[in-house]
Amino acid sequence: MTEQNTNKAEPEIAAYKPCLVPLKQGKRYFWCSCGRSKNQPFCDGSHAGTDFKPLMFVANKTEEVLLCACKRTRSAPYCDGAHNNLQDTYEEASADEIAAMSHAKLVKRDPANGGKAVLDGGAYVLTPDPANDTSRGTLAIQKLIDKKDGARHLSLLRMMADKGTSPWCRYDESDTVLFVVSGNGTISIEGKDFTIGPETGIYVQRGEAFRFCADTPLSLMATICPQSDQAQWPDAPDGKFDMNFPERRVGVDHDKASVMADRFFQILVDDQVGSKEITQFIGEVPLSRAAFHRHLYEEAIVILSGEGMMWTENCKAPVKPGDIIFLAKRQGHSLECTDPGGLRLMGAFYPAGSPAINY
Ligand code: FES
Repeated sequence: MTEQNTNKAEPEIAAYKPCLVPLKQGKRYFWCSCGRSKNQPFCDGSHAGTDFKPLMFVANKTEEVLLCACKRTRSAPYCDGAHNNLQDTYEEASADEIAAMSHAKLVKRDPANGGKAVLDGGAYVLTPDPANDTSRGTLAIQKLIDKKDGARHLSLLRMMADKGTSPWCRYDESDTVLFVVSGNGTISIEGKDFTIGPETGIYVQRGEAFRFCADTPLSLMATICPQSDQAQWPDAPDGKFDMNFPERRVGVDHDKASVMADRFFQILVDDQVGSKEITQFIGEVPLSRAAFHRHLYEEAIVILSGEGMMWTENCKAPVKPGDIIFLAKRQGHSLECTDPGGLRLMGAFYPAGSPAINY
């Protein structure tokens, strides 16, 4: 979709989606900033006679990247998700797309495969089964996403902390990003205490020990990155709290939420609290089906409320509160909310970035 722009101060919108392009380390590129090029996202000289000039950049890595085509990014030449704010409506699945995917097979949970409903590309939906918990003190722990499940960078654990004080836990080589699904209490990170409650995101840096003091039973999701089986259970913390990031908690704040038409998302944990590898966000979608899309990151999603359907190319599986979804990098998908009350979810992904960036 393109739009003619008569205002010379504004670039034209070449497309409402970024362009996925392969870059070669050390090579120079000229990114079109005027939006007129027929060779998007690169300059073809069509800016002649305008106030615009192409942006020259040198690739510092050989990799595929998403370059901005709406020309409204604030981190040119890369997409920052700005295209999502240019339309009054969020991009929903078109009638053609819905018809093309109508053959998708309904996948049931498979008890022989850990209870997963496995979709295309190793994506899956899983309802955690308490029978699979292992316990340590007041903690019941269950791994929901890991290397053996096809994830390459992150793991997702469910941690249930019963009332009282849990043992100390520490990952020496991995960051831990936590999300409180329900319950109230305190997390202590190296002896520094933070009050926590439902929908709090928390960052724990590698090498820092943490434990929970639960006033009411806490249900948490822990994203561990890089993946590790090397949890340490020390008797006491050693006081190595990184004071460069004194605040580690982020709660839902509607003033900070990004609104995309009638849905919203808010970044909870990111580099503002020290998390460089993982971004965690919370979002809500109304009764609708998102347009099919992909991300350049590996993602774990937790359904907090509402019901829906996760679609991949040829498969679909229903989701409900408490379910988790794994999506490999580049896995095409579309989450449909079938609940008149909307669907609320938490997502965590690697590498860190914006959940609004897709292609
Ligand atoms: S064609 Fe757009 S900047 Fe050159």
